[in-house]
Amino acid sequence: MQEPQHVAMIMDGNGRWAKARFLPRVAGHARGVRRVRDVVECCIERNIRFLTLFAFSTENWKRPEEEVSDLMGLFASALEGEINKLWRNGVRLRVIGDLGRFSPRLQTLIASAEARTAANERLTLTVAANYGGQWDIQQAFRGWLRDRLATAEDIQSLPDPGDIDLRPYLSMGYAPDPDLVIRTGGEQRISNFLLWQTAYAELYFTDTLWPDFDGRAMGQALAWFAQRERRFGQTGQQVRIVAC
Ligand code: IPE
Ligand code: IPE
Ligand code: MG
Repeated sequence: MQEPQHVAMIMDGNGRWAKARFLPRVAGHARGVRRVRDVVECCIERNIRFLTLFAFSTENWKRPEEEVSDLMGLFASALEGEINKLWRNGVRLRVIGDLGRFSPRLQTLIASAEARTAANERLTLTVAANYGGQWDIQQAFRGWLRDRLATAEDIQSLPDPGDIDLRPYLSMGYAPDPDLVIRTGGEQRISNFLLWQTAYAELYFTDTLWPDFDGRAMGQALAWFAQRERRFGQTGQQVRIVAC
């Protein structure tokens, strides 16, 4: 069965989950954190090597101050509460995004969680926080340019667009591109997630709200993925011959 190496998730629907139960939105976010545990465990069981979770977008700062502060608080407590278990389970944690906007305490927690789990190899869990796909391409280009300016003697000779290799400069230069992107909550959009890296991802949209997305729902998404024929621009006949 075809299994993805890298699954990326847009965890959407926490607010609607809470609203349906007459609860404050933060209750939906708190329930959502529990689902992260299930999905991490499922990936370990299925031998999936990379799991990337969209936790907070560059646009989410536009939410009410109280919700933003609740989300920051949950992120900090999840980091503190889960890091030992993640480490024991062989998970390497990475956090991508423009982290400079977070409080110094949260930045320290992130750095120490990343350092603590840096040598783990079973599953790389990437949390995208204050992340935007457009920001990622901009910061990659800045890095690329900085390296060129430092070494180039003739800055006039710009390379062809196809030779501008931004991949090592993107936030996820350490991982293969996602094979499967799952979005919960019913919307069918990317919302500025991994724009460059999802060029050939299979996109799975489900109406299930993130706080209800359990191991069974994850199994259904993986079964759907297993049926996909990935062609990468070739014809179906070509890829079937190679697969034989
Ligand atoms: C996703 O759930 C969590 C974040 C974006 C942080 P939402 O909070 O967007 O939930 P809905 O879309 O309002 O239901
Ligand atoms: C996408 O959800 C971002 C995250 C899951 C972190 P949003 O709820 O912010 O997306 P839009 O605004 O509905 O597109
Ligand atoms: Mg939403």
